Amino acid sequence: MNVQPVGILGTGKYVPERILTNHDLEQMVETNDEWIVTRTGMKERRIAAPEQASSDLAYEASLIALRNAGIAAEDLDLIVVATITPDMSFPSTACVLQHKLGARKAAAFDLSAACSGFIYGLANVSNFIALGTYKYALVIGAECLSRITDYTDRNTCILFGDGAGAVVLGPVAEGRGFRSFELGADGSGGELLKIEGGGSRHPSSPSSIEQKRHYIYMAGAEVFKFAVRIMGGAAEEALRKAGMGKERIDLLVPHQANIRIIQSALNRLDLPEEKCMINLHKYGNVSAASIPIALAEAAEEGRLKEGDCVVLVGFGGGLTWGASVLIW
Ligand code: UT7
Repeated sequence: MNVQPVGILGTGKYVPERILTNHDLEQMVETNDEWIVTRTGMKERRIAAPEQASSDLAYEASLIALRNAGIAAEDLDLIVVATITPDMSFPSTACVLQHKLGARKAAAFDLSAACSGFIYGLANVSNFIALGTYKYALVIGAECLSRITDYTDRNTCILFGDGAGAVVLGPVAEGRGFRSFELGADGSGGELLKIEGGGSRHPSSPSSIEQKRHYIYMAGAEVFKFAVRIMGGAAEEALRKAGMGKERIDLLVPHQANIRIIQSALNRLDLPEEKCMINLHKYGNVSAASIPIALAEAAEEGRLKEGDCVVLVGFGGGLTWGASVLIW
């Protein structure tokens, strides 16, 4: 069977205008700029306007990605949105977006793998294109984490922001595109990072609101340990599957959860910081949107050249992880 090489034809990002700084957070909880910068590397994050939902951020990022790819919305066969903050339980944010874009022939669905969702999305969608089922697809990470963040909890509220990143996937020339995917999950760690409320086990109710079950709960130190172990390991495994050594990496685009987690991955991969895309100081952790926003920003800054070896790697709730090697 002939397998069509699949790659990224265009990228786009959108972040809301409103900026929440560390100094703003000092007014809200018992914290300080120095603690946040040294423990996380973060300085600012973006916050969606009250009238904006995840599909609105996804729409803006998608328009840019489509324009950069030179593909019309009507030509899309598939739209996948990775998000933990859908506009609503259903219909999916992907269906809302399909309508907004006028992508009439596209199938559409959401994907739930928390911060690893974008890489899970790439892995799924690239298979459809590789086998010839579909030709053009949008994969988006879009989040309004400010809507599920408890701004009285200093353990979490300093970390999260809002935004969206989108890529158009399609056929590429031999020698380019995705070379490998490494996906994983460990459901035994599900309790470490979660939102319990609003699902079938703890439906929304006055008591679920009172118990703050609709906000992100995170056991930070445990997630940190998992992240340090998994980031470098997943990237190494994706490189092994691609038949490449770590010296081949031109740009690492990691999930933007914490500068110390990224630095541990760089140490393990023997990679200098110049070969890593870091923007968490501007946007914080945007869950599924972190990696596509960073990728779009790398493209905007001219940091991606044809033939470059790019490694994407992320981890998150589930617990889940994902990594991919691609030739730009
Ligand atoms: O994409 C989702 C995945 N999530 C992550 O990757 C997050 C992973 N975890 C982390 O990034 C880190 O664990 C945090 C940044 C969340 C926390 O950093 P830490 O170095 O693990 O700090 P800690 O939780 O061990 O807390 C150290 C101290 C504590 O005080 P005591 O008990 O030592 O007196 C905390 O109460 O820092 C205190 N603390 C704060 N102080 C000022 C916790 N949050 C804050 C804060 N400002 N915002």
